[in-house]
Amino acid sequence: MSEELRKGILVGCGNPLLDISATVDDNFLQKYDLKPNDAILAAEKHMPLYKELVEKYNAEFIAGGSVQNSLRVCQWMLQKPNTAVFFGCIGHDSYGDILDERARSNGVDVHYQRTNDAPTGTCGVLITGTHRSLCANLAAANHFTIDHLLTPEKQKLVDNAEYFYISGFFLTVSPPSIQHIAQHSHKHNRTFLMNLSAPFLSQFFSEPLMAALPYVDILFGNELEAEAFAAAQGWDDKEMKEIGKKMLALPKQNSNRPRIVVLTQGHLPVLLIQEHSIEEFPVERLEPNEIVDTNGAGDAFVGGFLAQYIQKKPLSVCIRSGIWAARQIIQRSGCTFDGLPYFKE
Ligand code: AP5
Ligand code: NA
Repeated sequence: MSEELRKGILVGCGNPLLDISATVDDNFLQKYDLKPNDAILAAEKHMPLYKELVEKYNAEFIAGGSVQNSLRVCQWMLQKPNTAVFFGCIGHDSYGDILDERARSNGVDVHYQRTNDAPTGTCGVLITGTHRSLCANLAAANHFTIDHLLTPEKQKLVDNAEYFYISGFFLTVSPPSIQHIAQHSHKHNRTFLMNLSAPFLSQFFSEPLMAALPYVDILFGNELEAEAFAAAQGWDDKEMKEIGKKMLALPKQNSNRPRIVVLTQGHLPVLLIQEHSIEEFPVERLEPNEIVDTNGAGDAFVGGFLAQYIQKKPLSVCIRSGIWAARQIIQRSGCTFDGLPYFKE
């Protein structure tokens, strides 16, 4: 392992959520007006869903929250605790304690803000076949404020980091925190990585997204997210490579560090789009009977990528590591793993 890998070299910000995961039928999705493969924020009409999942569908509770998932997977791949630091907001309750315990036991150095004003956030994960529909009730996660990052103790953690990863999901919570990290990263010539996370973010949170984008060195997304982003930009393209090239060309603050776009497409090849090249990395397809649930696949991909990237490994290794990690997580319930990783470069 490279010598550069020190504690706290990677900092992430996001929504710490406890996933309430169950296999449901189409009627359940219809009842709550949910699509089989989507990620949304819960509205009032969705609130009874969580209790129903627990009482009627034998739901499992699994540590979730997109960025926290990625950092947990990254730590698992590295087997070197506290390389990654996480910021997010939870409540003073047992769900918060579960998240804290899970993240720490997976090696993530969590520094939660705690609020008295809301319970820890949850995410309904509704599984139908190989699809999953996510319905997030952010609750406490929505109470994260930039003040948390500005305390001297947290500022020290930010100063110490070399890499920053923030999900698009966090755009609904604290754009000032995203701007703070993005500008800090730019000013100190660090690397800022971001994820499009879900189609609704490009549709409805395009203003803070476009304000963050000039600072983004590496952008991740899947095909639905890329399509939604293109539509929000008014681009006609449906072809992933064309969309990726246009994403590269959007304004960038630090022109010495050309943007990199990484698009996943389920079992289809991962696209690595750079200024002068587009490369495809094949995915060894898992058959439907090998898939437990794809919840966490995208997050695990990023976690596997980050584990190599922060060791300054070539991008081809980062992507193959991402594909490897996603494959493990898909064969398990939620974003979970077991034993030692056996990824070979
Ligand atoms: P989220 O990022 O929403 O999605 P995901 O479930 O991780 O991933 P998907 O299944 O959607 O995959 P993807 O479409 O991103 O990627 P792709 O299919 O291309 O994460 C879920 C978490 O989000 C939950 O824990 C929840 O808590 C959290 N969350 C929800 N709302 C939130 C909010 N508002 N704020 C914060 N957190 C929130 O696949 C990626 C890779 O997987 C591929 O490149 C490939 O390598 C591999 N792969 C996919 N399919 C196959 C296959 N059939 N065979 C082999 N490999 C495969
Ligand atoms: Na899974």
